[in-house]
Amino acid sequence: MNILEFQQRKARAEKIVMLTCYDYTSARIVQDSDLDVILVGDSAAMVMHGHGTTIPADVDMMCRHIESVARGAADKFIVGDMPFLSFRQTLTDTMCAVGRLMKAGAHAIKLEGIAGNAETIAHIVRSGVPVMGHLGLTPQSVNQLGGYRVQGRDSDTAEILKNEARACEKAGCFSLVLECVPEELATEITASLSIPTLGIGAGAGTDGQVLVMQDLLGLTTDFKPKFVRRYIDGRQLWLDAFNAYADDVRNARFPAADESYKR
Ligand code: KIV
Repeated sequence: MNILEFQQRKARAEKIVMLTCYDYTSARIVQDSDLDVILVGDSAAMVMHGHGTTIPADVDMMCRHIESVARGAADKFIVGDMPFLSFRQTLTDTMCAVGRLMKAGAHAIKLEGIAGNAETIAHIVRSGVPVMGHLGLTPQSVNQLGGYRVQGRDSDTAEILKNEARACEKAGCFSLVLECVPEELATEITASLSIPTLGIGAGAGTDGQVLVMQDLLGLTTDFKPKFVRRYIDGRQLWLDAFNAYADDVRNARFPAADESYKR
């Protein structure tokens, strides 16, 4: 997958599959999978570091995760998330952050929201860095949105989202994440744009989908949003393995003779 293929996939109506990934070991497995794109999302702050929101993520944190993923998945297209406020200070600060994410191994960056960001996005794109937009529920604005809730449910907010999506395309985004948007609206936005959309909680009418790896693997079990599909019960599998190991050690079944060094 490269930047040109995003457009081709949309033209051929072939879905794009993106998954988040934050570490080397997981990236090695993603590298051997049929997944198209890796998002090193700022959700790392939550699923890897235990924060309640993505707000504590910073450029240092994102770079460490991008570097680890890039070492594990050298052939995958990697999108690095611009963390909270990293693109809302000076243009110099923004470009410094973009440069660090790209040098860490990203092939593109993702940036939440368009209001007040159009010029910044255009500048980043003109600098040779592909930008993925992100609209709808933008988690970095959770405090302004009043919680993690579906966006664009009434006609006024739906109209705003449609205009924002067009503005992302006009600013030069090569693709657009639509998060927690009613299916009908996401489908309409997708049809109105020439760039592909990637949905998360946005129904089946987008050009592709994105999920958080830990959700897909059933490792995050405290809260399950409606849009998450757990493909395995990872938490139970891990627990079974941990408990089997503890039981084996306590009952002298581990290590066995062939797991021990001889003189
Ligand atoms: O950080 C992230 O994981 C994301 C996805 C939810 C799209 O931005």
